[in-house]
Amino acid sequence: MLVHNTDEVTLSVVAKGQRRLGADVAVVAAASLDEGVVLLDSPFDATRTTELEALLPRLGFTGAAGATLRTAGQDDDAAAVLLFVGLGEVKESARTEQLRRAAGVATRALTGLEKAVLLLPASTLEDFSAVAEGASLGAYNFTTLKSAPKPTSAPLREAVIATDLKADKDLKAALTRAAVVARHTKRVRDLVDTPANVLYPESFTEYARQASKSLDVKLTVWDEKKLAAEDMGGILGVGRGSVRPPRLVKVDYSPARAKGHVALVGKGITFDTGGISLKPAAGMEEMKSDMAGAATVLHAALAAAELKLPVHVTAWLCLAENMPGGDATRPGDVLTMHNGKTVEVTNTDAEGRLVMADGLSKASEEAPDLLFDVATLTGAQIVALGHRTAGLMGDEEATSAVLAAAEASGEPFWAMPFPEDIRPDLDSATADLRNSGNRDGGMLKAGVFLREFVGAEGVETPKWGHLDIAGPAFNAGAPWGHTPKEGTGFALRTLVNVAEALPGRD
Ligand code: BES
Ligand code: MN
Ligand code: ZN
Repeated sequence: MLVHNTDEVTLSVVAKGQRRLGADVAVVAAASLDEGVVLLDSPFDATRTTELEALLPRLGFTGAAGATLRTAGQDDDAAAVLLFVGLGEVKESARTEQLRRAAGVATRALTGLEKAVLLLPASTLEDFSAVAEGASLGAYNFTTLKSAPKPTSAPLREAVIATDLKADKDLKAALTRAAVVARHTKRVRDLVDTPANVLYPESFTEYARQASKSLDVKLTVWDEKKLAAEDMGGILGVGRGSVRPPRLVKVDYSPARAKGHVALVGKGITFDTGGISLKPAAGMEEMKSDMAGAATVLHAALAAAELKLPVHVTAWLCLAENMPGGDATRPGDVLTMHNGKTVEVTNTDAEGRLVMADGLSKASEEAPDLLFDVATLTGAQIVALGHRTAGLMGDEEATSAVLAAAEASGEPFWAMPFPEDIRPDLDSATADLRNSGNRDGGMLKAGVFLREFVGAEGVETPKWGHLDIAGPAFNAGAPWGHTPKEGTGFALRTLVNVAEALPGRD
């Protein structure tokens, strides 16, 4: 059975100005401005603040984003040890996200400790939420597959957030919300980090079942027989090269009097070898992350359920393992998809769009108001936008909802076009279309392919957005901000924001 992290940081609040909180460390934020290091919301008196601001640069701490410095505190400080954390050049427009990242840097730096008090600026609910989210997101380490994890690698156990909003009636809800979205983000990371010998379509399905148990959601599973009965040629075509059969999983959170319906379709390739169009060996191990979209939509729906959002959220997990087994789909094979269209598979490594095509047309049959797909779909996304910015395509109404939600979550998305010249390269001589063409505009081409599968006969076509998270889903480099190594959980917080904002639509 799948194991996932259970160590969970406890978040709590305390009024600003309290002393001797029994914490190991007190965290103080600093900005790097033209005039030098500036302590933000300094918990020290004016004289000591000035002294520290002069001393810190001489100790090698400039307040740069991501920088930390640990030093001894004085008797009446909140803790015996102080941790200074840098926000960098504080910009009004980015301040909230800078705080979220600094809180994450701080709690990550405090791995192995019991309790920290965060004396960061948190004087608006937005900033408070960001600090709480960042603190929880930073308190993470995937150690479940280590035979003897060291106590020094355990996430910080308790983060106390100092705020002058202690009396605000909305504070408790903000704290709960931050803790819930951060916890679900961390469960996405667990799934992404879990290797493909442990996480495969059936075990992923079992995980989804377990994770759904205590919540008001309904799970429906399509096994290979049911997939065949419903002509899911894309999911079956990708899955047939593996001894581990594919699955489609629907997770439905449908509260009474829901104000709208958001459907989320996630790419769940538990391992992407490329299939017969085999990938090169270098870095292939990272393809255990090719199910990040499915993990994200699953936990976005579960987070919506746990937060009891008044919105109908349906997650569709398109699960298959892309292997070059003896029965694998060959280049040139033609698949008949769930919506009846035929696809010539010219490259078996363009498998994500095949499973997502079935997921999109199946989800469309319920005529949701908004339909989003989330996928580690193309290397071209990384070429175009790098590792931290996701590609966004689709209908204006859907993409603008994502951009607005992403502004609040601090997750960068960039809207891309669907130029007219892209579609002809997907023409096939034998089938309705082919799954890959030349490399040009590779990210857009994948989006244009998916567009062919949005909507279903006899029902209104939903407004659709496509989120290509190939780069941001997996961090092969060093941890930064509240982002750890490997799985990041990128896009979950944006999707929860989108669902939450839906009742505001007319
Ligand atoms: N899973 C990959 C995309 C990917 C690449 C995600 C690197 C994360 C990091 C996807 O299935 C794939 O192989 N795409 C091909 C498409 C091509 C064959 C048209 C690609 O991007 O090269
Ligand atoms: Mn592939
Ligand atoms: Zn893939």
